Amino acid sequence: MNVPTDNKKLLAWVDEVAKMCRPDSVVWCDGSKEEYDRLTKQMVAAGAATPLKKRPNSFLFRSHPSDVARVEDRTYIASRSKDEAGPTNNWIDPETLKNTMRGLYAGCMQGRTMYVIPFSMGVVGSPIAKIGVEITDSAYVVVNQHIMTRVGTKVLEALGADGEFIPCLHSVGAPLKPGEKDVPWPCAPIEKKYIAHFPEENLIWSFGSGYGGNALLGKKCLALRIASSLARREGWMAEHMLILRFTSPRGRKFHIAAAFPSACGKTNLAMLQPTIEGWKCECIGDDIAWMKIGPDGRLRAINPEAGFFGVAPGTSYSSNPKAMDTIKENCIFTNCVLTDDGDIWWEGMDKPCAHGIDWKGQDWTPAKGEKGAHPNARFTAPARQCPVICPDWEDPAGVPIDIFVFGGRRAHVMPLVHEAFDWDHGVFMGATAASEPTAAALDVKHHLRRDPMAMLPFCGYNVADYWAHWFKMGDKLGKNAPHIFYINWFRKSEDGRWLWPGFGDNSRVLKWMCERVEGKAKGVETPLGRMPADGELDLTGLKIAKADMDELLRVDKAAFRAEFEDLDEYMAQFGARVPERMKKQVVAYKKRMG
Ligand code: GTP
Ligand code: SPV
Ligand code: MN
Repeated sequence: MNVPTDNKKLLAWVDEVAKMCRPDSVVWCDGSKEEYDRLTKQMVAAGAATPLKKRPNSFLFRSHPSDVARVEDRTYIASRSKDEAGPTNNWIDPETLKNTMRGLYAGCMQGRTMYVIPFSMGVVGSPIAKIGVEITDSAYVVVNQHIMTRVGTKVLEALGADGEFIPCLHSVGAPLKPGEKDVPWPCAPIEKKYIAHFPEENLIWSFGSGYGGNALLGKKCLALRIASSLARREGWMAEHMLILRFTSPRGRKFHIAAAFPSACGKTNLAMLQPTIEGWKCECIGDDIAWMKIGPDGRLRAINPEAGFFGVAPGTSYSSNPKAMDTIKENCIFTNCVLTDDGDIWWEGMDKPCAHGIDWKGQDWTPAKGEKGAHPNARFTAPARQCPVICPDWEDPAGVPIDIFVFGGRRAHVMPLVHEAFDWDHGVFMGATAASEPTAAALDVKHHLRRDPMAMLPFCGYNVADYWAHWFKMGDKLGKNAPHIFYINWFRKSEDGRWLWPGFGDNSRVLKWMCERVEGKAKGVETPLGRMPADGELDLTGLKIAKADMDELLRVDKAAFRAEFEDLDEYMAQFGARVPERMKKQVVAYKKRMG
């Protein structure tokens, strides 16, 4: 076999994994179109993929009904000490976990091909980028990685003979006996699934799932869990944030990075079409931001990914036209409806679908009373196909961040927008952010959960230490620190209607943020933070009842006081590790709400 690298660490690791997993063959991926075409053709022939007549070079996959989202209960941070992982992460002693997983990996690739995928998170050569190598027995993972990351020969060249990479081992956990026919979506039962991280070794081991963040290991596993832990050690930031450029009518460019929990609007905001005159929005990333302080002292952000793995249901020409234009060709769709004319469909698309094959592979009509697409159905699309991709989205130096936004999905209590009084207050706002559960994770049952900086399922170390790292970054940034805001697009009325139109109209809120940065808007101080003063939010051309607007901007002190107990319990779980600066914020907040 032709081995395309002389990197000793890589060669030794591939050899070791092959011996453990015992695949029929080993293939080194080069990231070429030929490779993509060969694998998709193979999967179509095997019945795992359906080519879409209406979208060139695009394919539909249906997962096993048990393997449809990230599994947070099966996700582990295996640091040496449990305290290091913190109370919000599942922990197993690394050696114990490795022993269990070695047992599962033994012979797990029999009857399958083992693919070695060298990939770069960020453009090859960027000072913020990192190299990973994923070993997987899933061709579906290979083609997704082609879109989501930068795969291939260039990466191996950058790696050289002695370069460092992050090893990411993945298996669907379904070996084939001699002559056994494969199923369309192989995976292991839930009790055998493990999404394991060894942050002290920069190592990822994933077993048993083929879906999304469980299997495309560059994304949540590397770019967030391992990277957040690396970032703390090395003094930078790895965040669950979209990145966008918002340009004012006078041509001033603002760069905004926003952290919302899974399925809470990052992709939509990243591709926003402003409804206000003269403002322009360009997308840099829709899920993850890696940020380092640049030579000018400002925080520089890159999107480490090369594609979008976006929530399909709800995506339409009326909600997110730029996403719809991004997914016309060269895309992978998972768990969507297959229409009779060979296209995909999902709930919330512009026109209804009268008949098709649902995500479970069964005959479907709306009369069936079940959703045709799974609520966590996704599209995998190349970022370069986005019509509003920013011309600088691959600038190796990154873009300078002016504004951080936190937020979540809350039907009640939390107003539309408020601004932090200062950095420490902003860190408190992010740390105490809360959201209602969505379909992006299988096993989240709480009514409302605190999701610090939208990183609860993605922080690779103790969340209290992560807050300390945020404080430290604020000190380093000083006057260059981004302004911090908090939004909630998801407020509902008593009768269950959205109070705020959302989507393109969110540009109105971004505009106010930019005017705050410029000092043009003054805002008013409330116990929660600074909020738009009367007339500061540009509502030109928007039909919204005054009563709704009042409700959206109301600070209900009693309702916030009712959450004190929950806040105390939340903080208490971190014990003595909660930074003093955070404790001060809690006290000041309670005093303001008193
Ligand atoms: P992940 O990929 O899981 O990290 O999700 P995300 O944060 O990128 O969420 P996404 O933009 O895909 O939005 C998820 C859901 O929220 C979709 O159903 C959207 O239609 C809906 N949504 C997004 N923005 C808004 C908004 O401004 N208002 C309302 N009401 N819904 C929104
Ligand atoms: C999320 O859940 O935040 C996602 C989807 O972006 S996944 O890649 O499955 O993590
Ligand atoms: Mn996400």
